[in-house]
Amino acid sequence: MVLVLDSGFASITRAVDALRAGKLVAFPTETVYGLGADATNAQAVGSIFAAKGRPSFNPLIAHVADLDMAERFAVFDDRARDLAAHYWPGPLTFVLPRRADCPIADLATAGLRTIALRVPGHAVAASLLREFGGPVVAPSANRSGAVSPTTPAHVIESLGQRGDIALLLAAGRTEVGLESTVLDLSEATPLLLRPGAVTREQIEFVLGPIEVAAGHDQTAPRAPGMLLKHYAPASTRVRLGALRAEVGEAWLGFGPDPFAGRAAVTALNLSERGDLAEAAANLFAMLRTLDDPKHRAIAVAPIPDQGLGIAINDRLARAAHG
Ligand code: TXA
Ligand code: MG
Repeated sequence: MVLVLDSGFASITRAVDALRAGKLVAFPTETVYGLGADATNAQAVGSIFAAKGRPSFNPLIAHVADLDMAERFAVFDDRARDLAAHYWPGPLTFVLPRRADCPIADLATAGLRTIALRVPGHAVAASLLREFGGPVVAPSANRSGAVSPTTPAHVIESLGQRGDIALLLAAGRTEVGLESTVLDLSEATPLLLRPGAVTREQIEFVLGPIEVAAGHDQTAPRAPGMLLKHYAPASTRVRLGALRAEVGEAWLGFGPDPFAGRAAVTALNLSERGDLAEAAANLFAMLRTLDDPKHRAIAVAPIPDQGLGIAINDRLARAAHG
């Protein structure tokens, strides 16, 4: 079983001690719960892959306390500094060239010449990183391929059994609910690798036009983590763009749709008032709830493909594949 602590200062101190000892700590960020390890400790980083059952050494995001700390590990240019000034701390990850003297374990970056960095905007994550004083790599705190955790209970459900995690800092449900936007700034043209809460429009507001990685490309070297089937429910098929539930299905609605879920075994609504931020925050928890063999499928209402809706549709497309 995993030791669950509140997020007070005494707990932060214990989490820092655990990280220093090479152990894994689950902690909240504004996006999803992360499974953290000392990024400079190759053995600790290796135990993240083991705990998650990740099939390959997918590169991890290094979480840091602020821009100054980030600049110790990657080569920043004006674009990256500009974006950091606008959106850090927050749900935006940069892929940048690794500095030659970067002490982060090669395993964390899968041997690439680039590194992914982000400054999370959650108070608990911020004080953990500040007190630890170094980089913490953290993928989402779930078994590989499963839906990302947005509550402490999700983390325990997914990773609590095998004794892989030293402790879990519990701080309720996460605010954003989707993983961070990943933007590759390692080449001349900025490339959006993973849509997230910081939208393309918000990035283009600062940088001007950017490119978007071709969706679901399993081989593109600039997007090693964009595996197609990634955020999938375990036992239930997902049917997208549904106008109503068929008999035997579960219904996941969006917007005011009093009748669409009528035939469903179970009906939930991502956001009755059609609010995309509310829908994003609810998405993973509701997919978990509806992921039940008693449902023939999860029928999901159409989500507008704009702003945050692009990130929601990206995760839904992955959940539906296969
Ligand atoms: O919101 C988040 O980003 C959460 C919280 C815990 O911070 N973390 C998260 O980590 O979602 P993870 O490991 O599930 O996703 C990291 C993504 C993967 O798609 C990975 O391939 C990509 O970032 N990535 C990491 N380093 C990269 C690199 N050097 N080049 C290209 N992509 C990279
Ligand atoms: Mg993940």
